[in-house]
Amino acid sequence: MIPISKPFLAQEERAAVLEVLDSGMLAQGKRVAQFEEEFAAYCGVRHAIATSSGTTALQTAFLAHGIGPDDEVITTPFTFIASANAIRFVGALPVFVDIDPRTYNLDPAGIEAAITPRTRAILPVHLYGLMADMPAILQIAARRGLIVIEDACQAHGAMIGGRKAGAFATGCFSFYPSKNMTTGEGGMITTDDDEIARRCRLIRHHGMDQQYLHETLGYNFRMTDLQAALGIPQLRRLEELTARRIANAAYLTANLRGVQPPATPAGYRHVYHQYTVRVPAGQRDRLAAGLTARGVGNRVYYPLPVHQQPYYRRLGYDVTLPEAERACAEVLSLPVHPALSEADLQTIVEAVNDLL
Ligand SMILES: Cc1ncc(COP(=O)(O)O)c(C=O)c1O
Repeated sequence: MIPISKPFLAQEERAAVLEVLDSGMLAQGKRVAQFEEEFAAYCGVRHAIATSSGTTALQTAFLAHGIGPDDEVITTPFTFIASANAIRFVGALPVFVDIDPRTYNLDPAGIEAAITPRTRAILPVHLYGLMADMPAILQIAARRGLIVIEDACQAHGAMIGGRKAGAFATGCFSFYPSKNMTTGEGGMITTDDDEIARRCRLIRHHGMDQQYLHETLGYNFRMTDLQAALGIPQLRRLEELTARRIANAAYLTANLRGVQPPATPAGYRHVYHQYTVRVPAGQRDRLAAGLTARGVGNRVYYPLPVHQQPYYRRLGYDVTLPEAERACAEVLSLPVHPALSEADLQTIVEAVNDLL
């Protein structure tokens, strides 16, 4: 079976983790600070704050920006559930705006109409490794006095005009094993704002700056040194791994027939966390089953939009967002990860072209 995703781990990762094990400093040692410093430099920002997951990075970022009960946050319904849930964790309400059918990301054209007196923030999600239209979103936010938090959990190294994801606003990343780089579980917040960075550090660590003096309500959202040690060599090989993803995607786009390949707007670097095609209506599930039968891993990210999830239905969400709903019925992700061989790529192409 060609897996849909596979972490790329080598000798450096093994050695780094073993070194932490041998040191006995499994948590709150020097590796977390080192990983943060290197990640901030990679993104081109002043601060990076490591967390236990992408979900806790998002929750921490919302708390640090003072978003809370009854505030509204505009976001996309076409994402992993954690994007919207992080808004709920702080007591705020996601307001879903439909996506651009070409990029699958939040459509800035729908944002203004969704703003109410309660709107505090916008949470664009850079889905599949392609950044949302940050220039347009930041313009609206500046005009309407709104905070922007980037869900960059799928977009390590993605860029617009040479500027990286996480450098446009407060950024949140995930290092889950399926992501473009991994720490097992883990997350990161990026910001240029000294005060937001300070608050994120407090919230992550029991609200504590000086030992046993708790300035604010905090959590244990820390990353361990084992995770950070794994993250450092992963980050150092991220550009190389990204180049392989981009080359694999280019091969698929050049050779697949009968499906709509991913779009990359001019000036954007898509980092292909997923290579997601649109399949003609009604044929997607048959293609998915056929690929599985031929040993080609594939997955639907995501089969149900967030506003139609049972939890959100129970909260009373009753909107129609046609583009997100159509995407849920038509998208299919194919393997694009850096461990694919040339033969794997040929197998994927032949299987798709045969089956359609
Ligand atoms: C878009 C998006 N947001 C948030 C998350 C949450 O990250 P984590 O699984 O590290 O908590 C993920 C990943 O799983 C994601 O893909």
